[in-house]
Amino acid sequence: MSTPETLYDGGTPAGAQRPFLARTVAELRGLSARLLEAGAAEGQTRRLALVPTMGALHEGHGHLVRAARAENDVVVVSVFVNPLQFDDAADYERYPRTLDADLELLAQAGADIVFAPDEAEVYPQGAPLVRVLSGKLGEKFEGASRPGHFDGMLAVVAQLLHHAGPPALASVPVDYGAYFGQKDAQQLAIIRRMVTDLAYPVRIQAVPIVRSPEGLALSSRNRFLTPEQADAALVLSRALFLLRDRAAAHEPLMIDEAEALIASQPLVDLDYLEVVDPDTLEPLAFNCRETPFTGSALVLVAARVGSVRLIDNMPLGDA
Ligand code: PAF
Repeated sequence: MSTPETLYDGGTPAGAQRPFLARTVAELRGLSARLLEAGAAEGQTRRLALVPTMGALHEGHGHLVRAARAENDVVVVSVFVNPLQFDDAADYERYPRTLDADLELLAQAGADIVFAPDEAEVYPQGAPLVRVLSGKLGEKFEGASRPGHFDGMLAVVAQLLHHAGPPALASVPVDYGAYFGQKDAQQLAIIRRMVTDLAYPVRIQAVPIVRSPEGLALSSRNRFLTPEQADAALVLSRALFLLRDRAAAHEPLMIDEAEALIASQPLVDLDYLEVVDPDTLEPLAFNCRETPFTGSALVLVAARVGSVRLIDNMPLGDA
């Protein structure tokens, strides 16, 4: 393969394959077509993955990319800080832009192409007039404290799924999947619903949460916790594990017990702990507090620890 101008050449540690850097949709499609065709046997279906990110990558993202790497021939990671999903302009400006470090991490994790467009490439006409709306799925839980966040998120994900999909130029059959972290369970449910409602030809793959050995879900926000706060935050995963174990034993869920556990930790201020249907995020059709647990559910939890807002979740049963 010739070396395009966009080939990243930034001191990747020996042994790791360097990802190609595409700044435009045309570059992305050209590179993707070439990589999909390279080494394809006659008639072979090639597997293509997209992992959308906003950069400032940490080990949780590394895990997501490695999961995609293990199952696909070509892995595209997008890095774009999407202004439409920030409700506060100052937060958007402050969001860390760390492309060099991101490329290092992505080289280690095995990405083939990094798609890092600028705002004009993604929104050439300015903010899009025609939008996909997240509806009532996007109004509750995280959406209640960040109005418009999920609609803004969908605006970019709808585009990225399209741009990174099987390129028209590719002369091989392509099976296409997009990888999202289970950590952002509400985002995942909304994206799944958009893909179903709009019949996008893409598999949505959820990658399980990565936890510290003690149980804290990995998040870029954890770096703002003091050691004492990080220790206190462990009640969140303990409450989730409690409910997971009850569900696995087909016992009633004892949500009060889980709430009391969180309330016993004075540094943790609970926002919500809810057991919901994993697809609709609506309350379960049966009373899981009193009835032996069967079927599938999702527990969502959010809390403030000092000034840091943390979210976590746990799929139950078959979810
Ligand atoms: O989860 C994120 O990092 C973002 O919401 C996403 C999916 C990349 C869209 O900007």
